Amino acid sequence: MNQIVYKENLLNCEEIPLKELAEEYGTPLYVYSKNQIVDNYRSFCDLLSGTNHLVCYSLKANANHSILKILAEKGAGADVVSAGEIFLALKAGFTPAKIVFAGVGKREDEIEYALKENIFSFNVESTAELQAISRAALRLEKKARITLRINPDIDAQSHPYITTGLQSAKFGIEASKAFETFQYAASLPSLELAGIHTHIGSQITKAEPFTATAKYVAELVEKLRSAGINLTHIDFGGGYGVQYADAVYHEALPREEKTELPVPSPIDFFGEVLPVLKSTGCFILIEPGRSITANAGVLVTRVILVKENSAKKFIIVDAGMNDLLRPSLYQAYHQIVPVSIDTYEHEKVDIVGPVCESTDFFAKDRIISKTNAGDYLAVMTTGAYGFVLTSNYNARPRPAEILVNGDRVRIIRPRQTFEEL
Ligand SMILES: Cc1ncc(COP(=O)(O)O)c(C=O)c1O
Repeated sequence: MNQIVYKENLLNCEEIPLKELAEEYGTPLYVYSKNQIVDNYRSFCDLLSGTNHLVCYSLKANANHSILKILAEKGAGADVVSAGEIFLALKAGFTPAKIVFAGVGKREDEIEYALKENIFSFNVESTAELQAISRAALRLEKKARITLRINPDIDAQSHPYITTGLQSAKFGIEASKAFETFQYAASLPSLELAGIHTHIGSQITKAEPFTATAKYVAELVEKLRSAGINLTHIDFGGGYGVQYADAVYHEALPREEKTELPVPSPIDFFGEVLPVLKSTGCFILIEPGRSITANAGVLVTRVILVKENSAKKFIIVDAGMNDLLRPSLYQAYHQIVPVSIDTYEHEKVDIVGPVCESTDFFAKDRIISKTNAGDYLAVMTTGAYGFVLTSNYNARPRPAEILVNGDRVRIIRPRQTFEEL
């Protein structure tokens, strides 16, 4: 069940109208539904319940302490990409033995920190990194558990900026070198070679790239086994897409022009994948980020003014690209709706922020409900890769974050002040 929906004419997060929150806490404002996050996490756990598994939430999607705490308390693991993320995960209560550490450029101090904290595994992306981890483990007289991230050269059919599994990407070890790199890793001291990792991209909306990857992984696990290298786990990564268009419905809203495929649910993504992975007998990890938090969050913004020239009508809002970068960064689509439906009239507009860049826009030539200065708009599906990508560009304080649980409201990050700039 979606937790951010219209009740009558007011867009609610769980039991709370977003309009009330905007009036009380100001805008721009990120608002999250606790129950949506928990439901999303549980749906992955349910799906994998018949197999020995761990769902490692990918912190990069949204690393707010309170959100991390919710997931840590539910027993999730953590997928991290820096020492800072390890620190945040531990602070929020994630068990070190459930933390996996990815990234193409881990510094030696980060490697040492992870070793001292006894994380579950390093997801290793190159031979040079294998050597660095082996050296650090020897120095610290520790054994480092290693998972090799293999780049299977499979097209995730997503945006090029978030496609990671092609040979042209910097990520992972190329497929043609996979076997020999496993053999090399097995020969290095102080390493425990335990698993294989793939992550082919983000916002993947088709099941077939995952199925192809699973088949590739299972074959490689078998080939390694025949050569005497027995892997005990498969980390299948994240990337499960979410639906951005048509995120919320009200009869007064215009029909969304952008029609995505119906985005598969986790069940659809794993339908063919799971039996293949299971057949290996390995422990299965996955690393969803976006699919846990994206639809649990909205960015609420206020219309500062409406400006018209001979070509266009601009709705100028008080959130900018520093508050939500995805549209500027990769032309990402977010549905934008009024928090209070007051009209059935529509108009074609550009929705832009106040930042001094032409790329500071949320929507171009978009048909939305007719809007006036002072209205509040909700930019939907912004719980992932939203706040984490904020900046202080143009000396704009970062927005506040609010967590809603039923009819309870909590500030989980106060709005930045000028003094903090
Ligand atoms: C290694 C790794 N795992 C997991 C994720 C999470 O991806 P998503 O948020 O698309 O599920 C990412 C993000 O790109 C990643 O790089």
